[in-house]
Amino acid sequence: MCGIIGYVGADEVVPVLLDGLRRLEYRGYDSAGMAVMGADEIGILRAAGKLKNLEQKAYHEPLHGTAGVGHTRWATHGAPTEANAHPQTDAEGLVAVVHNGIVENYVSLRKELQEAGVDLQSDTDTELIAQLLGREKGTLTERVLGILPRLEGQYAVVAVYRTEPDVVVAFRNGPPLVVGFGEGENMVASDITALLHRTRRVVFLENGDVAEVRADSVRILDPSGLEVERPVETLDWDAARVEKGGYRHFMLKEIFEQPDAIRNTVLAYLDAERRGVNLDGLGFSAEELSGLRRVHLVACGTSWHACLVGKFVIEELTGLPTEVDYASEYRYRQPLIGGDVLVVGVTQSGETADTLAAMEMAREGGALLATVCNSRGSSSWRLATSRMLTQAGPEIGVASTKAFTTQLVALVLMALALRSVRGLTDATDVELVAELQRLPLAVEQALAIDPELYRDGTEMLADATDSLYLGRGILYPIALEGALKLKEISYLHAEGYPAGEMKHGPIALLQEGFPVVAVAPEGATREKLIGNLMEVRARGAAVLAVSDGDAGGLDHVADLVLPVPRVHPLLQPVVAVVPLQLLAYHVAVELGNDVDQPRNLAKSVTVE
Ligand code: M6R
Repeated sequence: MCGIIGYVGADEVVPVLLDGLRRLEYRGYDSAGMAVMGADEIGILRAAGKLKNLEQKAYHEPLHGTAGVGHTRWATHGAPTEANAHPQTDAEGLVAVVHNGIVENYVSLRKELQEAGVDLQSDTDTELIAQLLGREKGTLTERVLGILPRLEGQYAVVAVYRTEPDVVVAFRNGPPLVVGFGEGENMVASDITALLHRTRRVVFLENGDVAEVRADSVRILDPSGLEVERPVETLDWDAARVEKGGYRHFMLKEIFEQPDAIRNTVLAYLDAERRGVNLDGLGFSAEELSGLRRVHLVACGTSWHACLVGKFVIEELTGLPTEVDYASEYRYRQPLIGGDVLVVGVTQSGETADTLAAMEMAREGGALLATVCNSRGSSSWRLATSRMLTQAGPEIGVASTKAFTTQLVALVLMALALRSVRGLTDATDVELVAELQRLPLAVEQALAIDPELYRDGTEMLADATDSLYLGRGILYPIALEGALKLKEISYLHAEGYPAGEMKHGPIALLQEGFPVVAVAPEGATREKLIGNLMEVRARGAAVLAVSDGDAGGLDHVADLVLPVPRVHPLLQPVVAVVPLQLLAYHVAVELGNDVDQPRNLAKSVTVE
């Protein structure tokens, strides 16, 4: 939710921290701050609002030092004011702390500190960590080890201590932290996007790890203070991939990166002849797979929509009954989990708290555990036995686009792998693999829709306060996704619905000019959908349809058609979602919204 950066090295730290925060701002952007280690005091700057406010402060109130921490916030405890921004300090100004997550025993700790006479300056749970550290004895690392048993909940924290100006200490339980190893400098951050331009050598901290970071060394301890080894990984993402590259927004860039992202994801999992998949039983043993009877797909948000499509794909291709759950619901119901279930956590970030909790539960229940994830080394990556990496590259825009389409592709590849272990492989597989290889071209065509059509579509949606998105079958989840995209970045209300359900309620909304967006490519249910759209037109509502090939009867019922190429029906969702992403983008731009950092949202939801 929040973005954290810490640095110890030889460079002036303020530009390093601001640069890191700029790259992390997508994680949270309601306030920001930094702590800079001076010769005998910690300089603190904090500002409410976007990072640019902190940048201005840093310009007018310059701080100097070569170590420090920075933070960009997504508020949980306390309004996004300057007082609640991080870093938070203890009463004496001895320590400064930045934090991502939630301290769950906030109420009791707050009461305890107040009863001990501590005059708390903010509403945050973060200040409690700082106050606890300030009251401990010893070095910063000793203080951290001392307070760990007192903290309940999910946290990633980076702290500095006035009398040790060349040390930054990081610790985590839940939200991610990654240590970056540079030349004469070391760093720690919430994610690798903040480090890539300085180093590609990283260590992903485990839950319970305490990292003592100095310019020339990094020591990692377990909660009892024993030193532990963590593997140093070399990343293959390059820094240019987290720049806008001439596009006005990251989201637009990422929409246009989809052909490459899809191509890379497909090629990563095809065999040498490119006629079948090469997933080697998804990494499970033949014995484990022989007992497989059911599949559970768990996720949140857009990734959950990918799972809804995945259910159609997996059931059709493998015959395995497949359930889809919101991770936040799965973790609190009693799903029937056992060794005969494959549970797949689908997550772009690999850090979504609810998805991770659902995956933990599946593991404890003895299920085969897999993840489809866009972040190698993330928590879901480390939790799962079987991992499929979507090759979308870093996705910075908060509204997910290329991560979604690569998830769809990965789920098709996973279904093909399951077919192979179940001995079902036949000509269908060869055909689908060939279609998968043609898919990037089809997405390119979908991206090339006449801009004039988007202008008309934007007008239809931007002038309305509500709209309805309809689809049937495997395209019904795409209607949900199209509506979510519009809501997230335009702040206009949109509801996705299975078209056949419209007359059971939402039809009451329809009136003259009410926009209805229909995902209506050719296929088994198109005639039915056209019937639904006739009902829409009969009530004076306006219809915008996404359609492949020949518009068929659609041209009689649609005011506007966004054409996409025809592909294999199981891949049609990948192509059909593209105009809906662009439509949402254009509406948001038309309304003057912050497309990449929409209000109240954060890229990675690391709290429950
Ligand atoms: O990182 P994840 O895929 O687990 O994230 C899940 C959702 O938070 C995410 O898809 C969210 O709905 C996006 N803002 C969608 O655009």
